[in-house]
Amino acid sequence: MAEMNLSKTHNLRSDGSRLWSTIVETAAFGGTPAGGINRLTLSPEDGHVRDWFRDACAAAGLTVTVDALGTQYALRPGRDMSRKPIAFGSHLDTQPTGGKFDGVLGVLAGLEVIRSLNDAGIETEAPLLVVNWTNEEGSRFAPAMMASAAYAGDFTTDEILAKRDAAGITVADALDAIGYRGSEAVGAQAIGAFVELHIEQGPVLEAEGKTIGVVEGGQGIMWFDGVITGFESHAGTTPMPRRRDALLALSEFALAAETIALAHAPSAVATIGEAAILAPSRNVVPGRVAFTLDVRDPRATTLDAMESALRDAAADISGRRRLEIALTRIWRKEPVPFDPAIVAAIDAAAESLGHSRRRIISGAGHDACNLAAKVPAAMIFVPCKDGISHNESESATQADCAAGADVLLQTVLRLANAPAPTEA
Ligand code: HGY
Ligand code: MN
Ligand code: MN
Repeated sequence: MAEMNLSKTHNLRSDGSRLWSTIVETAAFGGTPAGGINRLTLSPEDGHVRDWFRDACAAAGLTVTVDALGTQYALRPGRDMSRKPIAFGSHLDTQPTGGKFDGVLGVLAGLEVIRSLNDAGIETEAPLLVVNWTNEEGSRFAPAMMASAAYAGDFTTDEILAKRDAAGITVADALDAIGYRGSEAVGAQAIGAFVELHIEQGPVLEAEGKTIGVVEGGQGIMWFDGVITGFESHAGTTPMPRRRDALLALSEFALAAETIALAHAPSAVATIGEAAILAPSRNVVPGRVAFTLDVRDPRATTLDAMESALRDAAADISGRRRLEIALTRIWRKEPVPFDPAIVAAIDAAAESLGHSRRRIISGAGHDACNLAAKVPAAMIFVPCKDGISHNESESATQADCAAGADVLLQTVLRLANAPAPTEA
């Protein structure tokens, strides 16, 4: 009997076309004419997709709860309810020019895993938990991955509830506006291990013809807010040498950031993703500009060196141009190694399914990178076309999504049916 069960679970596969249809169906929530998704966290569109996910989970027999930051947890009982659930999922919020797969694949593949187990009548030893983390993207409210960061204890719930978007709306008000400010305390949901399936969002797997990325960790991230204060003056009467032009200073600083990243090639990256002239006018020399800066590298020492070089560049530019550059670091996420046992389970699952694979470090931040501080966690990557993400043209194949879902399914079965971990 046990033998038969074992082969039944080993041979179990997800339903790739059913998974694909959920990806297509949910893409309508915030869908854009260019075929992408604009579904900012806690927007009405996010509310609609959350409702869809809640109803789909309930229809699959899961018990859905919501915590104080809106994260959705969908629980499937196991034979041994004394064990902590094996959790898997990702996020349903997107960038303004987001695609159909970033985050979405991990959540919907989690639902597909449950549906496949239901169809096969398979019960696991440990309970299972599908998770939709609030605000992974960090586009509307900074920092990114904020709900999983609060779950991991990096922020208090009140700190996060008080965060404001560009319009001054707080996370608390935005949660209330879509009815997703749950009653469960953040961090109260027990999790025994966490596995996240995600598109790579980079070119490596596709370039090497590999189907699965076995992710060993995530690189470090620093976010800065910058304000440059020069002096507004008349565009027609102010001689060039007398100007304190904040936009030209930002232009120099942007090129300095590029030079600093290139100095730590090939891993380091630096991005000014937002910039605005405050009180803009076509015939006024810009006096004040605000901008954001995203800096990443797999090594903490390189992050330190880059921050120091950026501050030196700011001091040099502000001195020469007689203006002020205020650079405030608002977030630093250390490089994170994933749990070797979870990584090994993913590798074994991919091998048992015969998928080509390679070890890889994630360039993007993910909720698993926060979870890893609190529970054993790791990730599964599948390729995306040309490595493109955070772009409406983001694309992945049905076959690769199904392969990722199968690796997730087989990894979850390994973890959920393994002997109960002895409590430390
Ligand atoms: O910024 C990131 O790496 C993630 O996509 N939020
Ligand atoms: Mn993501
Ligand atoms: Mn993203």
